[in-house]
Amino acid sequence: MPAAFKRTLVTSALPYANGPIHLGHLAGAYLPGDLYCLFMRLKGEDLVYVCGSDEHGAAIMIRALQDGITPRDIIDQYHPMIEASFRAFGMSFDHYSRTSAEIHHRTSREVFRSMAEKGAFTYKTQRQLYDPEAQMFLADRFIVGTCPVCGYPEAYGDQCENCGSTLSPSELIDPRSTVTNATPVWRETTHWYLPLENWQERLEAYVAGHPEWKPNVSGQIKSWFNDGLKARAMTRDLTWGIPVPEDVAAAAGIDADGKVFYVWFDAPIGYISATREWAELNGHPDRWEDYWKQDDTRLIHFIGKDNIVFHCLTFPATLMAHGGFVVPENVPANEFLTIEGKKLSTSRGWAIWLHEYLHEFEPDLLRYALATTLPETKDGDFSWTDFQNRVNSELADILGNFVNRTMTFATRYFDGVVPPLDEPSDLDRKVLDAIAAFPATIAKGYESFRTREAVFETMALARLGNKYFNDTAPWHTRKTDLRACGNTIHVSLQICAALAILAEPVLPFSMAKLRAMLNLSGTRSSEPKGAKEGIGWTEAGQAIMQAGHTLGTPEILFRKIDDAVIQAQIDKLGTYEVEEPAEPEAAPYVEPKPEIVFDDFTKLDLRLGTVTVAERIPKADKLLRLEVDLGYETRQVLAGIAEQMTPDEMLGRKVVVVANLKPRKMRGYESQGMVLMSEDRDGKLIPVGSDGENGGVVR
Ligand code: 2FM
Ligand code: ZN
Repeated sequence: MPAAFKRTLVTSALPYANGPIHLGHLAGAYLPGDLYCLFMRLKGEDLVYVCGSDEHGAAIMIRALQDGITPRDIIDQYHPMIEASFRAFGMSFDHYSRTSAEIHHRTSREVFRSMAEKGAFTYKTQRQLYDPEAQMFLADRFIVGTCPVCGYPEAYGDQCENCGSTLSPSELIDPRSTVTNATPVWRETTHWYLPLENWQERLEAYVAGHPEWKPNVSGQIKSWFNDGLKARAMTRDLTWGIPVPEDVAAAAGIDADGKVFYVWFDAPIGYISATREWAELNGHPDRWEDYWKQDDTRLIHFIGKDNIVFHCLTFPATLMAHGGFVVPENVPANEFLTIEGKKLSTSRGWAIWLHEYLHEFEPDLLRYALATTLPETKDGDFSWTDFQNRVNSELADILGNFVNRTMTFATRYFDGVVPPLDEPSDLDRKVLDAIAAFPATIAKGYESFRTREAVFETMALARLGNKYFNDTAPWHTRKTDLRACGNTIHVSLQICAALAILAEPVLPFSMAKLRAMLNLSGTRSSEPKGAKEGIGWTEAGQAIMQAGHTLGTPEILFRKIDDAVIQAQIDKLGTYEVEEPAEPEAAPYVEPKPEIVFDDFTKLDLRLGTVTVAERIPKADKLLRLEVDLGYETRQVLAGIAEQMTPDEMLGRKVVVVANLKPRKMRGYESQGMVLMSEDRDGKLIPVGSDGENGGVVR
């Protein structure tokens, strides 16, 4: 890692161009990425933000086959639609590209070629079922046939859903392709593999060098490491995708015909192609290299949690194997978003589509409401009533109200001119000092990818404004002490100006309106092509409104939303008749311990026993003194469970005791062993026991 980063390249996952964008997408990879970029530009950082449509992959091809259209028809329908809805939502990409672009095909092939030349790939030949009509090899799920176990005619190539048997495609009777219904045939096929097992050590060192990564990200990666990384195929037999270069295939002695890159090989390279295209469009075709080849670039990937393995392991391994490219500095992946408490399901209509939302509401309302519920560490939920509350009780009642009161007073009683600060009170000074601290506090949230916290702190500034306005009661001082009233409006206008900059990442459209109301010019822009100089993030906390400055015209920033409007949105959601089985909550991530050999285990003398005495120990809140009958002797054991279990609950229990643990003194008592407990996700302890004779050996 360089001493200091000179520039930042930010990416948001390339969405598949086979459907419109919904709120789940936004909450995962897009809104947090955009807020971060707007903040960084306001801070004056050199930053480029790229994204684009992911237009390859078997899913798009299969959908085209099923609908009787071409993959090109699908991507040409969705790419412009996605791009337009992102723009209307205020996404501030420096460039939004697409992976069907020539520059992307060229870049991916270059990367693949130079990796092949370096010997980065291995090859494997396998027999696989092939659909001669669709001219494609079939993944197990795209093959159905009769189950050899129960005779069910619709069993999948990997499993029979009728009897639960695990199957392989070769076991199915009368197999057929789900794509065309044709009878598949066996064919041999050879593919390029990225031998991730050879990269495990370097990847482990790389990830270990980033202890700051979010725990949901590092936890998932560690479990991949624990399972041991395996080679992954980087090519596929498909008619849709980027063809493997013929010369590279020839050099490997493989027929290139029908071979394309695996979509997860080419898609992340799309970040490089998009940066390249951005540089070309801006007339500096080589500038992309600064962002990808200078190691003082900070590369950040915003993604959803289902993309973690590709961005934290496969893509970094690809970049390392290629050499000469920077690797991601951080991958702030978000968890999933539920809608009204239920798992999002596009096929069941349980989703909120961005383009539909934008037909009815302002983008800023969703930016704010969603930012307050981002699934940063665990799944988050979006509900329409929460959206209404955020808009009505926070945006309208707090931020909007504060701005409106301030502007109305300034216009009515000070002729639309910033009044001077004249002999400020202690409170006036205290509030001015408090404003000065906000840029750093909010920045901390964005910089550590705690976007929710950043947004909360932003609203705290508006809350402070409202409270200050109430406490100084200018409606009163207006009649009794015009100087004090002027001070209130002066300080309030400073808060408005600070908000116009600090709330810009989350509310870009509304803050542009606020800047117009304040007639605030000379500010640095958060937009890709806007002013790079001027009053920016760090200056926002200084009193930036000069006495005597003429203000613009007040207007209402946020209007409240009626119940009926919200109910109509709730009614629009799918019926969701079929309840999906609740996904079992993932067990808490406890880092597995290093492997041991059998001999290590046999060193433990584990014995079954019965608790015959259980009592509290005076002045030791956590300890219970137990006597455990081990058949051949009785042991005194001190167990740290008194906060969770009463003596009565322990009395008579069968427990497992570590009988050869060296005795130790606790609170003046000797503990002659240890009672085994299991700990659940909430930290609750449950004794481990089993029926059997006291003294019985547990093995
Ligand atoms: O999961 C997805 O929607 C993928 N299209 C994301 C690709 S991200 C990147 F690697 F391009
Ligand atoms: Zn079966």
